[in-house]
Amino acid sequence: MYGMVNRALKALLCEQFGEASWQEIRAKAGVTTDEFVSMTTYDDAITYQLAGAASEILDTPVDDLLRAFGNYWIVFASKSSYAILLDQSGDTMGDILAGLDEMHTRLSLAFPDLRPPSFRVVSNDGETVMLRYESFRPALVPFVCGLIEGLAARLGVKVDAELVEPKSEGNPSDLLRIKVSPLESTP
Ligand code: HEM
Repeated sequence: MYGMVNRALKALLCEQFGEASWQEIRAKAGVTTDEFVSMTTYDDAITYQLAGAASEILDTPVDDLLRAFGNYWIVFASKSSYAILLDQSGDTMGDILAGLDEMHTRLSLAFPDLRPPSFRVVSNDGETVMLRYESFRPALVPFVCGLIEGLAARLGVKVDAELVEPKSEGNPSDLLRIKVSPLESTP
């Protein structure tokens, strides 16, 4: 994945757990690079190894870390030069999710070797969005849920994103149910 992803992961871990923990995680992951270059591609294994090592050292399930990373990515991207793509992505969760493939296609202009995921809104009644997520990369559904939570925070709405049907042989996409509600309706 592009270095921007590893930079964001490092920033999250340093901010929340300190530079010393980051160095410990990096050493455990066997990752020799400390400064990732945003526009350089790195082996996906580096990102997975960092997440796995962070999970062990911080004694936190990797899925929880990936979810937190998804939330953080939206904040990180909002401070990047690509923030405009988020600003222009739509005013409702349904619109934003429906435009994700186009967003990543536009990003491929800046990241020519991007191998983005694909998303398809299957249905949207204004409260519940059913979303298909397809990627050749494994185990990133919690990251997607975190990303959706990050988008909700930007929109100022409450969201509940969960996997309802995992991908399987013959079905290459995960099916997610995303319930969107106003913030004030929190019980
Ligand atoms: C301006 C905002 C964004 C930027 C700059 C961005 C950029 C990227 C980059 C560079 C990658 C790594 C892919 C690679 O190197 O091949 C990536 C992956 C990914 N992006 Fe985005 N992205 C943005 C917004 C979003 C949003 C809003 C979502 C919402 C769901 C999303 C979902 C994903 C997922 C799930 C991956 C992991 C790769 C995979 O599933 O195969 N991205 N993105």
